[in-house]
Amino acid sequence: MKKNNTMHLCLAPMDGITTCATRLLTKEIFEKCWAPHNTLTLRTEFMNVDGFLINPDNVIKHLQTTPEQQPIAQIYGGNETTLLKAAISIEREYGHLFSWIELNLGCPSTTVMKCGGGSDMMKNREKTLTIIQHLSEQLEQLPFSIKVRTGLNEADKPQQADFLVKASQRCSTISIHGRTLKQLYSGDADWEFIAQVQQRIKAVSPHCQIIGNGGITSYEQAKTLQKHYELNGIMIGQAAIGNPRIFTPYQPTLSDKLETILRHLDISVACDQLFEALFLNGRREICLKTAQLEEQIQSNLKKADFEAHSTVEFRKFLFQYLKGIPGSREWKSGMLSIKKYRELRNQIIDFFENKG
Ligand SMILES: Cc1cc2nc3c(=O)[nH]c(=O)nc-3n(C[C@H](O)[C@H](O)[C@H](O)COP(=O)(O)O)c2cc1C
Repeated sequence: MKKNNTMHLCLAPMDGITTCATRLLTKEIFEKCWAPHNTLTLRTEFMNVDGFLINPDNVIKHLQTTPEQQPIAQIYGGNETTLLKAAISIEREYGHLFSWIELNLGCPSTTVMKCGGGSDMMKNREKTLTIIQHLSEQLEQLPFSIKVRTGLNEADKPQQADFLVKASQRCSTISIHGRTLKQLYSGDADWEFIAQVQQRIKAVSPHCQIIGNGGITSYEQAKTLQKHYELNGIMIGQAAIGNPRIFTPYQPTLSDKLETILRHLDISVACDQLFEALFLNGRREICLKTAQLEEQIQSNLKKADFEAHSTVEFRKFLFQYLKGIPGSREWKSGMLSIKKYRELRNQIIDFFENKG
């Protein structure tokens, strides 16, 4: 922390949510509504390392970014050899695009745990510590971090705390989601656990930054928790979906909301189109130039309406943006059949015009 009132905020990595478009939009809003001294760090969705090595075309999109974002590239997997191979390859090929590489050790999904990744890595902590050691040694330029939960269940917390103290010697940052595997994504986050682990880590690995995460629903709450527990940073996940202003002290007006939704939709559609078009020399290009993106958005707004998968995908954001707006519930059901980009855009504009 540079100053007492400085906040280091992080958008939590979320599969299917923290796409290149969402990160770009969140960064734009943060910079527009900037609170002096605050910083915002972005993470990609996680990417399966085995998928990356076998058929990168299927999964590399998770790492798509614009050069200005400098997100943290998050990976998962359960096999040391493939984790190392993929991490080294990401660093070599795309290292200039990322701030550091992070290993996910907390995901509760069956698919992820079945391949030995995510929370499954907490079932053999000695093996995981060796993987962490090797990953941190093999990466030549990019710092290495981990994202974890508080343990498998309540009884497992002491073992998890000991593990984190050991792991901290090899990590530049540890993000702690204050819930156990058993809690999944709801219930109280254990901020006391995060604070106690931070105290222990400070004594052995003063270089290691601790980011607290779990259950934050407002900017003010993030501020209070950061101040109270003196953490290096605060990460927000679910409450940021459809609410990028949560990283700023300012609430959006209805017209701000409309502007944000349209921008998010425009960027999402354009990012997808550009990703499909960028296949250079047999290697997927994951870096989108901002000027190219703006050109694509302008061209989309001029051409005849078209179907886009990202329009359908956008519903999950749209419905969160509209939460709490009177009349949105009924309106939403009418949106389910829309697959065309401009049709959806126009419907959104009409909905807000009727509110004004
Ligand atoms: C839809 C969804 C997808 C997620 N995907 C990831 C992921 O890819 N990597 C990861 O480390 N955590 C993932 N998480 C966990 C979040 O990063 C975060 O730790 C969790 O949601 C708790 O924070 P919150 O209470 O603020 O939502 C995901 C969570 C949700 C809800």
